[in-house]
Amino acid sequence: MTPHTIRWGIISTGGIATTFSKDLLVDPATRGVTDVRHKIAAVGSRSVPSAQAFIDKLKAASGPSSWGAQNGGLEGTKAYGTYDEVYADPDVDVVYIGTPHPFHHQNAKAALLAGKNVLCEKPFVMDVAELDELIAIAKENKVFLMEAVWTRFQPIAYAVQEAIQSGKLGRPRRVTAELSSFAHIDDRADDDRMIDPKLGGGALLDLAPYPAVWSMLALHQHPQNTDMEPQVLDFSQRIYKRNGVDEMSAFTVKWEGLAEARLLNDFTAWTPRDNACVIDCDKAQLIIDHPLYRPERFRIVPHPQTVAGSSESEAPAVKPDDITEETEHRFSIPAGNGMHYEADHVARCLRDGKLESDRMPLAESRVVQGWLDTVRKGGNSVLKDWPHIAGNW
Ligand SMILES: NC(=O)c1ccc[n+]([C@@H]2O[C@H](COP(=O)([O-])OP(=O)(O)OC[C@H]3O[C@@H](n4cnc5c(N)ncnc54)[C@H](OP(=O)(O)O)[C@@H]3O)[C@@H](O)[C@H]2O)c1
Repeated sequence: MTPHTIRWGIISTGGIATTFSKDLLVDPATRGVTDVRHKIAAVGSRSVPSAQAFIDKLKAASGPSSWGAQNGGLEGTKAYGTYDEVYADPDVDVVYIGTPHPFHHQNAKAALLAGKNVLCEKPFVMDVAELDELIAIAKENKVFLMEAVWTRFQPIAYAVQEAIQSGKLGRPRRVTAELSSFAHIDDRADDDRMIDPKLGGGALLDLAPYPAVWSMLALHQHPQNTDMEPQVLDFSQRIYKRNGVDEMSAFTVKWEGLAEARLLNDFTAWTPRDNACVIDCDKAQLIIDHPLYRPERFRIVPHPQTVAGSSESEAPAVKPDDITEETEHRFSIPAGNGMHYEADHVARCLRDGKLESDRMPLAESRVVQGWLDTVRKGGNSVLKDWPHIAGNW
């Protein structure tokens, strides 16, 4: 069967647009995919030379993406000096948006209004009101819209969820999840998007979508969950004095009747490498390695009371279906960075005429966006008054 080829329009030429585009050009066969393929039809930047330089670099790149460059993935790719030209290009099936978060809404809106399907980087937008507008436009224009939470499409994410949903670990009681990395914020320029308020800087908006992934997969999608509007119970932020964005955000979310998740992001410290997410269940803990955007290993670790010789093993006798031994489950990405799994998913959705992903549904993006709103608006960062404050810059 001939693979179904999807033609991408790439918006912006920054860091993640580069990583995503390179992954589009990796040979799908390296990950066992034969039904879909990717081509970069157009690149939009704020200047033509920058778009052209982006394409030239992709063409010259060595490594796994060179396969696509040699096999039609960059054939006739157009370099545009505006984003609008990408939205208007009839050779583009789907637009990928990789601009800083405050621009996601306007970029996605323009693409949807031009009738394009859209895959938009995380965090989807700046608040739920912006997201609701995009969802309404996508519905009205009958086009596909999805937040680019690539982690959900990695094989390890399916495996973790299968382990939780198998029931063998028992009911989940609590998720703790952290994505922190020492980001050298003192050394960054004022206009660096990680810390510049105008570019949506701060740990919450940049990092929180990733701990959220694991709580959504383990708890929100758990068969025993009935709470589809889990709320933030409490939160704290530490503010970076230099420019008023949050350098650390932590919050707790409760799924009424099931469990809680405690989620943490910090620009000034590192996540413990082998303990980034703990999904504590009745019979064992499922523990995922750092980094939570692309972990390569999880372990199933028995509770102390079921381990022979443990000081806590005086407690109840071990039952036949108890988990008594630790197991390790490794997942490496065969070629590329791993964003191609989400691209394959989008390609299949488009091929099958879907307007929404069942793996990354808009309702779930809306739930997580709502948490970000609660913490941001309730906290003390300069972004608490977005969008009103934006007019003052
Ligand atoms: N999925 C992931 O793992 C992941 C990883 C990193 C970032 N992200 C997300 O992707 C988005 C972009 O992050 P990034 O690290 O790629 O950013 P970046 O390297 O700074 O690139 C952003 C690009 O956006 C364009 N842009 C348009 N208006 C801009 C403005 N006023 N200031 C700066 N750039 C502007 C620029 O491209 P042109 O000049 O070509 O127009 C720029 O190169 C963020 O929302 C971030 O959260 C996701």
